[in-house]
Amino acid sequence: MSKGWTKTDWRAKPRVQMPDYPDPAAVAEVAARLSTMPPLVFAGEARKLKRALGEVAAGRAFLLQGGDCAESFAEFSADNIRDTFKVLLQMAIVLTWGAKLPVVKIGRMAGQFAKPRSASTEVIDGVELPSYRGDIINGFDFTEEARVPDPARMLHAYTQAAASLNLLRAFSTGGFADMHRVQSWISGFTDEEDAKRYREVANRIQDAMEFMTAAGVTSDKVNAIGTVDFYTSHEALLLEYEEALCRIDSTSGLPVAGSGHMIWIGDRTRQPDGAHVEFARGVQNPIGLKCGPSLSTDDLKVLLKRLNPENEAGRLTLIARFGAGKVGDHLPRLVRAVEEEGAKVVWTCDPMHGNTIKSATGYKTRPFESVLREVREFFAVHKAEGTIPGGVHFEMTGKDVTECTGGVRAVTDEDLSDRYHTACDPRLNASQSLELAFLVAEELQDRRAMQKAAGM
Ligand code: PEP
Ligand code: CO
Repeated sequence: MSKGWTKTDWRAKPRVQMPDYPDPAAVAEVAARLSTMPPLVFAGEARKLKRALGEVAAGRAFLLQGGDCAESFAEFSADNIRDTFKVLLQMAIVLTWGAKLPVVKIGRMAGQFAKPRSASTEVIDGVELPSYRGDIINGFDFTEEARVPDPARMLHAYTQAAASLNLLRAFSTGGFADMHRVQSWISGFTDEEDAKRYREVANRIQDAMEFMTAAGVTSDKVNAIGTVDFYTSHEALLLEYEEALCRIDSTSGLPVAGSGHMIWIGDRTRQPDGAHVEFARGVQNPIGLKCGPSLSTDDLKVLLKRLNPENEAGRLTLIARFGAGKVGDHLPRLVRAVEEEGAKVVWTCDPMHGNTIKSATGYKTRPFESVLREVREFFAVHKAEGTIPGGVHFEMTGKDVTECTGGVRAVTDEDLSDRYHTACDPRLNASQSLELAFLVAEELQDRRAMQKAAGM
């Protein structure tokens, strides 16, 4: 965080991926209203998350970040939030078991509304309209009216984020009684070889949990069973909204993004001299940075300094998203750049955004095998470089959707049309998410063995 920074400085920088609102006066009015609203999160919480991520950077914890590609106004319901939260907790338990380390849990929830797009327009049946950019900006319907950016949507997004957070906070302190029945989580898995393998792990986790209960270790201190630390995150894309929710923290006197605990900069908006980096560098929250194949080593070095000048552990999370088969081409050079700079970062793997393909049936999808392969490549590079694979970042939902193909309860190309509900990119469904957690847990056991051998 730099002295002299103000929350409006980004306005003087080149901006990309942001809407041109037809009525600037209406935007100013909405921003003025939002600036009088309470922040959604508080600086102390953001600092607590930063400390937890500092533990991840040091190899003493693991990061699980997941949720919708894009939250939508239409899909908003208590059930959806509960189901996604529940699967994230289940995954966290499996990962805790694999890593034998605490798992830091962050949802892509309560604010993940704005979407960068690779094309600014979309053509359907010869009709060309501006692209959908997330419910906080314009509408999903393929009509001219819906696609006009409307600033009033920011107020709707704020209200939905507040209601989501209220529920998440209640779930986090209320405890989830059925968290103990590990076997029931995988009851939907079919009886194939793989499912058998997960059942064995589930048995061992169940045993461990029963032992703890028998030994009286049922207090709130038991991670992911009683009180849970759960955090929110989103891509800080719509800077008018972020600016309006930016506050000065009374404890430290420093600016804080009040829109979510962690904010990240997307792969399309990480220009070192651009508006998004300018905004993010000034707030004290933990910051994520998406790292795709086009990120040059030199740019990364500039970004490390600009976003984390004091080299604070937990401040910066680098989210690698190269695509299966491409990790080995890019991650080693970036990992080495970080090591050369002596930068303290969390390295996490987003195996979703580099693996989007069009199915034979015409749907945007992601094969489970590619997702898993990218995760394995990520772990392998860190093993070879002697650095720490700190976490995973998924687009997922607690619902039984059919958006990604594969998994033990296999979704085929033909199944995609059954329950394809995403407002943007395809998400792993509940069963695919949990299966992936089991597979990542296997990688983590390997990491643990390595750390032990290194005396860490
Ligand atoms: C996203 O996380 O939804 C996203 C758009 O990612 P990226 O910036 O990595 O493409
Ligand atoms: Co996405």
